[in-house]
This record gives sequence, C-alpha cells and structure tokens, in this order.
Amino acid sequence: MEDARAAGRRVGFVPTMGALHDGHLTLAREARARVGEGGLVAVSIFVNPTQFGPNEDFSKYPRELEGDVERCASAGVDVVFAPDAAAMYPEGEKTRVHVHALSTPLCGPFRPGHFEGVATIVTKLFALVGRSVAVFGRKDYQQWRVLSRLAEDLMLPVEVVGVRTVREKDGLAMSSRNRYLSNEERAKAGAIPKALGAAARRWNDGERDALALRAMVEAELRAVADSIDYVEVRHPLSLEPYAAGDQALVAVALRIGKTRLIDNVVIGEEPPPA
Ligand code: PAJ
Repeated sequence: MEDARAAGRRVGFVPTMGALHDGHLTLAREARARVGEGGLVAVSIFVNPTQFGPNEDFSKYPRELEGDVERCASAGVDVVFAPDAAAMYPEGEKTRVHVHALSTPLCGPFRPGHFEGVATIVTKLFALVGRSVAVFGRKDYQQWRVLSRLAEDLMLPVEVVGVRTVREKDGLAMSSRNRYLSNEERAKAGAIPKALGAAARRWNDGERDALALRAMVEAELRAVADSIDYVEVRHPLSLEPYAAGDQALVAVALRIGKTRLIDNVVIGEEPPPA
C-alpha cells in the first residue's frame, strides 16, 4: 500500500465480511472509478467477531474465501486482505471505538455493541490501509453514516463514500444473509422493497406526515414479517426523527423466519426500490 502510494497511485478500499455478491462488487467498481486505472483497489474480507451479538449468526456466517478471491479478481480488484482474528485482535488489546448519537437509534437498541464493533474494526482497517477512498453500501445506511462521522471526527485520511443499494430483480436488497431464506421466505421478502417503494410514491404525491408513511410501511411488512424490529422515518444525515425537509430516510428491520433483514430508501432522493 505504501509502495503504491509512494509511486503516486491512489488507493480505493472496500471493507467486507466476504460471501461477496454483486452489491460488494459494485463497491469495488466504484472504488476503481474513484482511483482510476492507475490506482490500487483493495478489498478486505474479515468476519468481525466484535460486531456480532451472542445470539447472532457469527459462527454460521458464510465463509468462502476461495470463491471470493476469484470474484474480486474478475471485478479488477488488485489486493485482497483476509486477516485472521488474532491479527486484528491481538491478545491484550483493550481499545473500542464508539460513535455517539448515530449509533443510538434504528439498529442500535436491537444490536447492542454492534456499531462499536463495526467502528473498532473499521478504524483498525483504516489505520492499516492509510490514505484512501473507502467505499460503503447504503444498504447498511446507519453503518455508512456512523463510519463517515468516524473518519471525520478522528481526522483520518480516508474519504468515506456511500453507494446506493444494489437490488435483485424484484427489488430485494442483495445481502449475504439472503441465502438463509427458504423459497417461501424469499418470496415474502419481496414485500420489503415494495413497501418502501409505496412510501416513496406516496411521498412523491406530496405526503409529508412521517407517522402516516410509517404506518403504511408497517402495515405492508406485518403481512410477511415474523417480527418487526423497527420502521422509522428519519432525517437522512442526523438520523433524528424526521420533522421537515426535502428528503427522508425510511429504514426498516424485520425477521422473516429466523433471518433478520434490513432495508431503506431515502425518499425525495432515490427512485422507489420496487
Ligand atoms: P458486509 O455485510 O460484508 O458488507 C460490506 C459492504 O458491502 C458494506 O459497505 C455494505 O453496506 C455493502 N453492501 C452489502 N450489500 C449491499 C448491497 N445490496 N448494495 C450495496 N452495498 C451493499 O458491512 C459489513 O460487511 C461490515 O459491517 C464491515 C463494514 C465490513 C465491518 O466489519
């Protein structure tokens, strides 16, 4: 990395947990577009233990390094970095990074410690990679906002970029966790982008009442969800409850069967997802 930079190459960085799909590869292509053909694009693959809760899917999270390396090569990635847990969390390490306020709402209460785990690992990765453009997906919208703030507040030499969610044909956001869904559950999951799309259209027709938008999305999700963590309408940057403005984040988290899915749309800015 240092050699590349010394030779005047810009570095594009895409942190992932592997099980790469076209959403991840779109981030790699965006990184390439940002640094140019002469730049260096690096992808990290690390299933980060500190961001999983005790009852979450850390042990069964898909791990397929060989296929991932091939997918990276075909997407024009120059470097794949796949450290083991001892390299990232050497014995005796004591430091955690916490981004206040932005980690609190939405997924915060449902995944205690999650954003601290994410902020900690990404800070370590940023320290290793150094001056770069780091590309994240807006599929994990709150994560993107947390990490943008982190880079700014810690004065890291990293420009954080957010890329719109890449979706399947029916609008479902691509996710490494979609593979947990049975056929029947997968069919139900199509209701998520439809509900967000309906909210976006209602917004485009002039609706600005957050409670009304929330209620309509929730009603559509109730029909397919086994449980709903939240349906929220929030300010896209502060993540405070939406009060006024030309754009609003509608973010949802729900379970279909045992699988927890999240999705969002920034209405007034993005086209309806389905
Ligand atoms: P992971 O879930 O593997 O996602 C890696 C990156 O891919 C994240 O920035 C995520 O938002 C993005 N991504 C996933 N699905 C996407 C989609 N359908 N469209 C666009 N982007 C998508 O997010 C993590 O890993 C981890 O928390 C990490 C940041 C690597 C820290 O451990």
